[in-house]
Amino acid sequence: SWTPAAFVEETVEELKAQLGGDHVIMGLSGGVDSTVAASLLHEAIGDNLICIFVDNGLLRKDEFEEVLHSYKDMGLRVVGVDAKAQFYRELAGISDPEGKRKVIGRVFIEVFEQEAKKLEAEDRAIKWLGQGTIYPDVIESVSVHGPSVTIKSHHNVGGLPEKLDLRITEPLRMLFKDEVRKVGAELNVPKNILGRHPFPGPGLGIRILGDITPEKVAMLQEADAIYINNLRKFGLYDQVWQAGTILLPVQSVGVMGDERTYEKTVALRAVDSRDGMTAEWSRLPHDFLATVSSEIINNVKGINRVVYDISTKPPSTIEWE
Ligand code: XMP
Repeated sequence: SWTPAAFVEETVEELKAQLGGDHVIMGLSGGVDSTVAASLLHEAIGDNLICIFVDNGLLRKDEFEEVLHSYKDMGLRVVGVDAKAQFYRELAGISDPEGKRKVIGRVFIEVFEQEAKKLEAEDRAIKWLGQGTIYPDVIESVSVHGPSVTIKSHHNVGGLPEKLDLRITEPLRMLFKDEVRKVGAELNVPKNILGRHPFPGPGLGIRILGDITPEKVAMLQEADAIYINNLRKFGLYDQVWQAGTILLPVQSVGVMGDERTYEKTVALRAVDSRDGMTAEWSRLPHDFLATVSSEIINNVKGINRVVYDISTKPPSTIEWE
């Protein structure tokens, strides 16, 4: 029967045989799959694995620094790239969800390619691109995700090998998510990464309805951090499949002292699910929701209303875009 220890042992041997003294580059996302794939590759070839982690300006609050720090603690050789300004510039004025996905995917590839070329110029032994593809990504049909499949492939750095002329190594391509987590635990991947909720490749870019500005990102990051930190504080984080905060393009009237305000709304989303294909909204306790709501409204400038999304998938989706 399948055990994580046997899988690790066998895969490490296979990777050593496959890769020899070649070097591998790989894009990391902060998510479970790419991190576990990288740690498996690292186990096999050590510092012949070079990782690239891009800050697209659409990550959660402090996530880039925290995750980069975890990667370094794990002993991974990782290059952190601050590409925030480039993403914001290219996204300016784009409101259409698929338009945003396309830009985010394209800019990611441009940034990754640029870094990869720099590394290749220094290191002639780079012959492979590592990817965190897992079995459901392999079998997932276009009809499941519609247009977001292109981003799924962005997530897994699809589209890159053609231009970079690299061969692909995908050590997790036969595994399901729960198996990936077990392999990660076997490899001592930190709990803060293994237990993470799924987070879309386009990040907060598809949780800001309408166009994206650095100011909206900062506002959403603050609100989202309050929500996620309270989920942890109340012991609810591990009970939900995924949670996130959505910044709505809606203003409504409020009162503060004797002034009327006219400010933005955030929606809180939390779902229970097994695979993200169907999802039930999480029955989070009212006292928890009350705490989050008042913390957000009292602390995040520009937000005067918080709503909770009680929609089921299908027909609603988990994300709003
Ligand atoms: P939906 O919104 O389709 O989401 O119910 C199902 C799962 O997929 C994630 N998702 C994405 N992941 N790129 C990704 O890498 C995307 O464009 C994208 N769109 C949705 C979503 O967060 C949920 O886990």
